[in-house]
Amino acid sequence: MTKILLPLLYLFSLNAVANDMFAKADVKAGKALVEKNCISCHASSYGGDGSGIYTREYPKVKTSKGLVAQVRSCNTMLGLKWFEDEELNVAAYLNQTYYKFEK
Ligand code: HEC
Repeated sequence: MTKILLPLLYLFSLNAVANDMFAKADVKAGKALVEKNCISCHASSYGGDGSGIYTREYPKVKTSKGLVAQVRSCNTMLGLKWFEDEELNVAAYLNQTYYKFEK
C-alpha cells in the first residue's frame, strides 16, 4: 500500500509547493476557459495557438499577481464578466503551462 501512497503524497506536496496563490485553483477549468475565449486574438498576432504571447522574449507579466491582473484586464476588455475564481483558474492554468512562477 505505501508503495502506491508515497509517490502520490509526493506529487500532491509538489503541487502545493509550486504556488500557494493557485493552491485551490482548477487548472482544467482554466484551460477550457482559455481555449474558448482567449486564443483567437493572441493567435492573430503570434500565430499558432497564440501561446507565443506568454512565452515571448519580454513578457509583460512577471509575477503571479501580475498574471492575475493581466487575466483580469483581458477579461474586462472582453466583457466576459468572469468571477474571481474563474480568473484564478485561468491564471493557474497559464502559470502551470507557460509562466511557471513559484510565487
Ligand atoms: C481582443 C484581443 C485579445 C483577447 C481576446 C485576449 N487578449 Fe490577452 N492580450 C491581448 C493583447 C493585445 C495583449 C498584449 C498587451 C500588451 O502587450 O500590453 C495581451 C496580453 C495578454 C497576457 C500577457 C502576455 C505577456 O506578455 O506575458 C496575458 C496573460 C493575456 N493576454 C491573457 C488573456 C486571457 C486570459 C484572455 C481570455 C480571457 C485573453 N488574454 C484574451 C489581447 C487579447
